[in-house]
Amino acid sequence: MRREQDGERLDQARIEPVILDINRGEDIARLAARVDSSGKRLHAIVNNAGMAANAPVETLPLDDWRAVFDVNVFGAVALTQALLPALRRDRGRVVNISSIGGKVAMPAFGAYSGSKFALEAISDALRQEVAPHGVQVVIVEPGGMRTEMGARGTAAAKAQLERMTPQQREAYSGTMRAFLGYAAALDHTGLTADKAARTVASAITTPRPRTRYTIGREAAFLSRLVRFTPDRVLDRMIAQTLRSQSKDTATAAA
Ligand SMILES: NC(=O)c1ccc[n+]([C@@H]2O[C@H](COP(=O)([O-])OP(=O)(O)OC[C@H]3O[C@@H](n4cnc5c(N)ncnc54)[C@H](OP(=O)(O)O)[C@@H]3O)[C@@H](O)[C@H]2O)c1
Repeated sequence: MRREQDGERLDQARIEPVILDINRGEDIARLAARVDSSGKRLHAIVNNAGMAANAPVETLPLDDWRAVFDVNVFGAVALTQALLPALRRDRGRVVNISSIGGKVAMPAFGAYSGSKFALEAISDALRQEVAPHGVQVVIVEPGGMRTEMGARGTAAAKAQLERMTPQQREAYSGTMRAFLGYAAALDHTGLTADKAARTVASAITTPRPRTRYTIGREAAFLSRLVRFTPDRVLDRMIAQTLRSQSKDTATAAA
C-alpha cells in the first residue's frame, strides 16, 4: 500500500504490509531486496494497482494520459522486471489484472482501455518469454466491479467536463453523460471485490492456470463477442447499451 495507515486494517499475523508506490523506483528496489533477503520462495506477484481517467481522446490532458499509463503499464512492468529474477529462481507466476476494457474500448475509455490493451499485449509477450524458465503469466479480465474506482472515476470525469471548452462540451457532453450513467449503474450491477479475489486466488494457486480468466458474465460474453463481431456492429451495440444505462440512471435519479 501507499499509506502506512492502510496496513493497519490488515490481519498482520498473516499479511505483511509493505509500502509500495509502483511509480517509485526506490520502493520497488526496497521490495525486491526484501524478497531476496527473506529466504522465502516467491510464489507469485499480482499487478493489481490501477487507475482510470475517463474523457474523450480529444479532451483528456496529456498529463492524465501519462498518469494512467504510468500506473497501469509502466508501474506493472517495473515491478515485474524487479521481481522476475526471484520468480525465475522460484518458478513463480505473474498475475496481471487487466480488464474487459483491455478487449473492448468504449467512448471516454481511450486512456484506460489503451493502457489495458497494452498490458494485455505485454503479458502475451512476457508469457512466451518466461515460459521456458518455468514462470507462468496469467491475465485476469474483470467486468464492471463495485470498487472505489467508480467514485474516483465519476469525480474525475466531472472535473474533466468542467475543464472543457464550450465547443468541447457541446461536442462531448453526451459522451460524458453516457460514461457517468455507466459508472452510476456499476453501483448496482458491478460485481463485488470478493468475487474477483476468488478468481485471482485460483489463478495464483491452481497448478496449471489458464492464460486468461474473465470475471463476471458480462466480461465472459464480451470477450467472446469481440472476436467475431465487426467493429461497426460492436460500436452500435455499445452505443445502445450506454444509451439505455444513462436513461435508467436518469430515471433512478428522478
Ligand atoms: N473497478 C472496476 O470496474 C474494474 C474493472 C476491471 C478491472 N479493474 C482493475 O482492477 C484493479 C483494481 O482496481 P479497483 O477497481 O480495485 O480500483 P480502486 O478501488 O480505485 O483501487 C485501485 C488501487 O490501485 C492502487 N494504486 C493506484 N496507483 C498506485 C501506485 N502508483 N502505486 C501503488 N498502488 C497504486 C490504489 O492505491 P491507493 O488506495 O493508495 O490509492 C488502490 O489500492 C485495477 O487494475 C483496475 O484497472 C477494475
